[in-house]
Amino acid sequence: MPKFKELCAMRYSCRNYAEQAVEDEKLQYIMECVRLAPSAVNRQPWQFMIVKDGPLRDIINNAYAREWMRTAPVVVVCLADRGSAWVRPSDGKNHADIDLAIAIEHLVLAAADQGLGSCWVCNFDAPLFARTFPIPEGLEAIALIPLGYPDVLPTEKKRKALEEIVDLSPALS
Ligand SMILES: Cc1cc2nc3c(=O)[nH]c(=O)nc-3n(C[C@H](O)[C@H](O)[C@H](O)COP(=O)(O)O)c2cc1C
Repeated sequence: MPKFKELCAMRYSCRNYAEQAVEDEKLQYIMECVRLAPSAVNRQPWQFMIVKDGPLRDIINNAYAREWMRTAPVVVVCLADRGSAWVRPSDGKNHADIDLAIAIEHLVLAAADQGLGSCWVCNFDAPLFARTFPIPEGLEAIALIPLGYPDVLPTEKKRKALEEIVDLSPALS
């Protein structure tokens, strides 16, 4: 099993998938990791829908019409329940997006841990998706996460240098 830093380095945005199906046990493992994610005041304001094929998959493919997206054997639709998320009293900030981001990052890291590729997708046509996908009452689609065995090699990680994002000198002194 990879160490955490290796896992972080292993995960990448996979934009082409092999035809090979994803085992149900792996999906179960991934969603169990999602279930364990923290959330503000432990509200867990989320729901997830696993879509493989059929009419729901067509809706996803229309809302994010990319050839590579069609190659993914599974897409996880990540939904937020803003109404049940914690709202910070001092300024009214709703924390649903933060909670969902944590849960979804658990999802993609767990997928990498299982040898699967994934990609965060937020650039879908949200109004079209909201009109056409049977989103349960009160929920909002935050991200669509394709999953499958990678059919492309990882891309080089382009990241800011550590010194650009944090001053470690107080910690090291
Ligand atoms: C919140 C969020 C939304 C994203 N939306 C998309 C998207 O709609 N389509 C896409 O191809 N990649 C999307 N990405 C992937 C980023 O482009 C990618 O994570 C970034 O370029 C770093 O590359 P890496 O994931 O391979 O390390 C998204 C990533 C995040 C975190």
